Amino acid sequence: MKIAVLPGDGIGKEVTAQAVKALRAVVGNAIPMEMTEAAIGGAALDTVGTALPEETVEIARKADAILLGGTGVPEDEHRPPKDGAGNGLLRLRKALGLYANFRPVTLFPELLSASTLKPEVVDGVDLLIIRELNGDLYFGEPRGIFKGDDGKRYGINTMHYSEGEIERIAHSGFQAAMRRNRKLCSVDKSNVLETMMLWREVVIEVGKQYPEVELSHLYVDAASMVLIRNPKQFDVIVTGNVFGDILSDAAAMLAGSIGMLPSASLGANNKGLYEPVHGTAPDIAGKDIANPLAAILSAAMMLRHSFGMEEHAARVENAVRSVLRDGFRTADIREPGCTTVGTVAMGDEVVKALLREATQATVAAS
Ligand code: IPM
Ligand code: MG
Repeated sequence: MKIAVLPGDGIGKEVTAQAVKALRAVVGNAIPMEMTEAAIGGAALDTVGTALPEETVEIARKADAILLGGTGVPEDEHRPPKDGAGNGLLRLRKALGLYANFRPVTLFPELLSASTLKPEVVDGVDLLIIRELNGDLYFGEPRGIFKGDDGKRYGINTMHYSEGEIERIAHSGFQAAMRRNRKLCSVDKSNVLETMMLWREVVIEVGKQYPEVELSHLYVDAASMVLIRNPKQFDVIVTGNVFGDILSDAAAMLAGSIGMLPSASLGANNKGLYEPVHGTAPDIAGKDIANPLAAILSAAMMLRHSFGMEEHAARVENAVRSVLRDGFRTADIREPGCTTVGTVAMGDEVVKALLREATQATVAAS
């Protein structure tokens, strides 16, 4: 198992260390695991002068899977997006052709009261947001801030999707729906934007190949409302890069905290980049209070998608569940009567649960 580890900035570093610990504990010595650490984001900017050094791209290319923490530093606010630390991640997704971002949103029953929404609204939520990652306003040209003939500045970004890009993400959506409850909701803004008219047309065309999947469409404004009003009506949501970015943060609150949301960015083969949905949270970085569970659950997604290790993936998810059941909480999901722990201690609890389970399995087998 060749894994590139890219901790990145802020709490990215802290939570990635916990995910690495969990991976080591669940895989054990049975399978050789080679982890290579590489720089990305602000750390890379400071040392190499670019948020995505060539060496990091090489290491990521050679790896079967990439575990990433997050990229972005406070200084990003004062420089153009293309020079920022967060841009390292965007370029890596593009360079590796990782175009389908899977962001599953499930609520652990133990966290029912951690959500800001009413328990009856979120109880049993289990949906999957598939966000396109390589196109849209994120990459469309022209872009920039230009001086017009009138001497005033103009900010320009271009919403851009090719038919081919929409087709492949639509297939990701339909195929995921086939593995789940066979419902796909495509989210667009085709009442206003031509790019999104094409989006809808192509999704409908691709849908003809999946007659078993019930396809529906929502405009993004309505989708954001339904997500909060009745999230249980969704199975799989497929959407573009910008709308997916926004909707997945909103959906995080269905899972109690954005600190619980893992993600996988996949391309044409099994290679994937796995990262928590939350960012680098500079305000709480270095304080040992960030929730490492999204990173640990991302590692579980890696075992499942890139390595086909379903059983190991499930073991990690069960360990997270049992730690929550035992009443351990980080600050973001803190509850009266529970034990509030820091990042490292939460990671330790997950490792303990994994080892406990392994011992029990050995005892049962002998
Ligand atoms: C995400 C993040 C990134 C994005 C940022 C850090 C560039 O918000 O992964 O959702 O916008 O894609
Ligand atoms: Mg985001």
